[in-house]
Amino acid sequence: MRSLLFVPADAPGKLDKALGYGADAIIVDLEDSVAPQRKEAARRGAADFLGAAKRGGTRLLVRVNGLGTGLTDADLDAVVPVRPDAIMLPKAEGGASIVHADAKLTAREALHDIAEGTVGIVAIATETAKALFLAGTYGGASARLLALTWGAEDLSAELGAEANRDSEGNFLDPYRLARTLCIAGAAAAEVQALDTVYVDFRNDTGLRRECEAARRDGFTGKLAIHPGQIATINEAFTPTPEAIAKAEAILAAFTAAPGAGVVGIDGVMYDRPHIARVERLLARARAVGLGPATSKP
Ligand code: COA
Ligand code: MG
Repeated sequence: MRSLLFVPADAPGKLDKALGYGADAIIVDLEDSVAPQRKEAARRGAADFLGAAKRGGTRLLVRVNGLGTGLTDADLDAVVPVRPDAIMLPKAEGGASIVHADAKLTAREALHDIAEGTVGIVAIATETAKALFLAGTYGGASARLLALTWGAEDLSAELGAEANRDSEGNFLDPYRLARTLCIAGAAAAEVQALDTVYVDFRNDTGLRRECEAARRDGFTGKLAIHPGQIATINEAFTPTPEAIAKAEAILAAFTAAPGAGVVGIDGVMYDRPHIARVERLLARARAVGLGPATSKP
């Protein structure tokens, strides 16, 4: 998933159009974009949308309210029957939260005759202070876990901070740490790392810069809040023809020299850890319909 577009679940006008913007995933939000008195209407909106949506390539996620809110069970009761591809779990605190959510999902899948494990989990892994210390504990928690992402808004409130970005718009240290822990936690758990939202939604230059930095550091997708952000995000996280060609060259060099620990290509050394890296890149390319160049006639 390169781009994941948030849509408030109590906004039918936005939901109606959500599938038309080219996002790889839609996140129907029951949490922060929905006022407390609107939660029930939002649950109905989410269920209606998922029930009616044509299932094409776009993944359909629902962000439920966090496990500490007392709202999660009613959220899941409303949406699991209409089979979201995944739930997004905010304020996750390590692998234990995933085990907890997994159990809730398993019970509801059983009740509704849905194959166990159908509904995945994407966790927001850095929204509480405690969560930062647990970012390395997601591995092995549940096969449902698809990705980790991070957030700076709730964390800044929790830390009692006055701001999360400096005057130039760069994240301050505590949030850079959260971002890094998300990348490392996702890699440790062998799941996708997704960069957080860029809230200045009319600033395409700033969004592009943040996407480039995210890709450079190991994120393979980014959350969006506005349809105008999708094209930029998709472009930034689609492997380029050059990157695909290079990945294939590295694989070919290792294939041609079985048993070699290192190979040299164009004056640069690559060792075996690069194999896994380029295989992941090629898998991402295939996922968006970009076949390997070598398979072309
Ligand atoms: N999903 C689907 N459609 C959206 C959308 C979204 N997230 N955000 C905007 N649109 C639509 C609008 O409905 C409008 O459609 P129209 O031209 O057919 O009327 C069009 O895109 C342009 O919208 P625009 O006027 O530029 O923005 P806005 O002022 O209507 O909305 C936000 C701005 C921030 C309120 C809106 O983008 C939004 O709700 N984002 C998601 C917020 C969210 O879920 N936050 C939780 C995660 S942090
Ligand atoms: Mg939040």
